Amino acid sequence: MPEAKEPIGVVGVGWVGLVTAACFAELGHDVWARDIDHEKVARLTRGEVPIHEPGLPELVARNRERLHFTTEMAPVLEHARLLFCCVDTPPTYSGDADLSRVEAVVSELADPDDHALVMKSTVPVGTGASIKRRLPGLHYVSNPEFLKEGSAIEDFLHPDRVVIGADSDSEAFADRVEALYAPLGAPVVRTDVASAEMIKLASNAFLATKISFINEIANVCEEVGADVAEVARGMGLDERIGPHFLRAGAGYGGSCFPKDVQALKQLAGNSGYHFQLLTAVIDVNELQKRRLVGKLQKHLGSLVGKEVALLGIAFKPNTDDVREATSLVLAGRLQSEGATVRAYDPVARERARPLLANAKLCDSALEALEGADAAVLVTEWQEFRELDWEGTVKRVMRRPIIVDGRNFLDRDALRAAGFVYEGVGR
Ligand code: UDX
Repeated sequence: MPEAKEPIGVVGVGWVGLVTAACFAELGHDVWARDIDHEKVARLTRGEVPIHEPGLPELVARNRERLHFTTEMAPVLEHARLLFCCVDTPPTYSGDADLSRVEAVVSELADPDDHALVMKSTVPVGTGASIKRRLPGLHYVSNPEFLKEGSAIEDFLHPDRVVIGADSDSEAFADRVEALYAPLGAPVVRTDVASAEMIKLASNAFLATKISFINEIANVCEEVGADVAEVARGMGLDERIGPHFLRAGAGYGGSCFPKDVQALKQLAGNSGYHFQLLTAVIDVNELQKRRLVGKLQKHLGSLVGKEVALLGIAFKPNTDDVREATSLVLAGRLQSEGATVRAYDPVARERARPLLANAKLCDSALEALEGADAAVLVTEWQEFRELDWEGTVKRVMRRPIIVDGRNFLDRDALRAAGFVYEGVGR
């Protein structure tokens, strides 16, 4: 008889928690997943998936028998010894991470017994140590996630690396966590808790730095007549640099980069170190989000009374996540300059509605473009490439002006068709 697989506990069934639960179930584990949101648990129990993530509904459906959703902690503690903490840690006003949800989970483990808390939530360096000071018997393993929205399942099942941090008293539990990932065949980084926590923050901060760096190169390219896409291609072939995360555009957004860069800067500041580079990375990103407005003004002059179509609202394609999305900053900026904003996104409209109260939300790209003085492409959804730009779009727009915030459209074809085309850094 095959050996029974380690049962898993997941606490916090948001995006990270649900992906984690579904993927461990896919690997053959029984998973007890707990969330305090009764409605969410009821929907999950009915087999509904409340978030947009490609492949997730299929994975949840395929593994229904192994996935047990609950609002209570007791069944999780009863069935599983490894408790993956996946609650969110949103930023506070000061930029520190809000750990109240993590604290709430810890308080429910008052008698830690033979369980281990496995931290997937992104937390400041030192969180593990401080939790262990308060609950000395608790076994604690740091196991940060590196999932990208839109490809989270692929990222979970085919990771570049698995990071597992534990101090000497929790090594046996860390071994059990490592065993869970063994079928994936990925390199495993075994380290101490503080270093594991830092690997997560430093990785995201480095990637954000790469983006702000290429965005500044793009801004200089515009001044000196170089093309940032060509520059990135030439740079990326250097193995020490690598080709990824060198796409210039309208700034990074989402639920991780802005929060984690800020959190690392804040963490350094709290310990008396001024992280100069990250201060610049954040400033460059904020300016980059606004720069597209200047590109519009170059061609339209004053924006008072002008109609601007925003193509894309989500912070990146294949997600309905609008957190820290460039579109929101841009819409506010355009409106304060006197423009009317008409926005369209294939999936993020409903989520964006409360945040874009003064903009018209359209049901199609063409509806947004009809009568527009200019179009701004903010999110590189594939369907925007497939629009009939030379025909229908050109006919319905009042003026054929396109600002392509992601260098996504066919510049030469659009210019040949009579559009005024502005990209980023070219
Ligand atoms: C990111 C990390 O990649 C992931 O490892 C971590 O766990 C969570 O944060 P995600 O937020 O889903 O994942 O998005 P990602 O695909 O990494 O893109 C982040 C932002 O950077 C997007 O706004 C994207 O448009 C922007 N970006 C990315 C660029 O502007 N240029 C690039 O070259 C790459």
